[in-house]
Amino acid sequence: MGKFVTFEGGEGSGKSTLIENLKEYFEKHNIDYISTREPGGLKLCEDIRSILKYSTQKIGDRAELLLFSASRAQLVDEVILPNLNAGKVVLCDRFFDSTRVYQGYANGIDDKEVMDVTNFATNGLVPDITFYLDIDPEVAFERKGGRDVGDRIEERDLKYHKMVREGYLRLAKNEARIVKLDATKTPAEVLNQVIEILRKENIIE
Ligand code: TMP
Repeated sequence: MGKFVTFEGGEGSGKSTLIENLKEYFEKHNIDYISTREPGGLKLCEDIRSILKYSTQKIGDRAELLLFSASRAQLVDEVILPNLNAGKVVLCDRFFDSTRVYQGYANGIDDKEVMDVTNFATNGLVPDITFYLDIDPEVAFERKGGRDVGDRIEERDLKYHKMVREGYLRLAKNEARIVKLDATKTPAEVLNQVIEILRKENIIE
């Protein structure tokens, strides 16, 4: 069985940069890996991603949770599990912690209900390790140059994004697999920290 590594954080936290840098490191060191993202990673899931991010139709809170979960179920079956079974390191940009925080904590759906749906979608799959990039959303949006226009979730107000951060901080406190990182550090510093932890946890040599 390979190892399942996930990345979490608010908008503009530097997840994508970290994953790109980590991929480069893995390539250089011949580490057998795949990289995917949520929602997305497959044509069907990218279609669901477009709906979730850019649909102009009203999407209710429960429907939103189920759409994220539908995308996740497909990605677990078609991409994540087969690659873990092939012994690879699977890197995933977001996983169910995003749902617990965005649809659960910040949108007010009870965590138990979120986890019931999540466990159905994932068949109980849990990441081996999760890196959470922590940053104040105000600083992150400034760094990012503002919000993406028309993005349903990104366009939510600052209060929502502050709740997202609070939700992540609570999760990071309660779950031993979640490693909190200071996302205001330079990309090189964050990368080195992640590599060091992956080595210590025997996920890479
Ligand atoms: P991003 O990966 O480019 O940040 O875009 C994904 C967006 O979807 C982001 O706003 C966070 C949000 N999201 C949820 O609200 N719930 C989820 O379960 C996932 C995976 C993402």
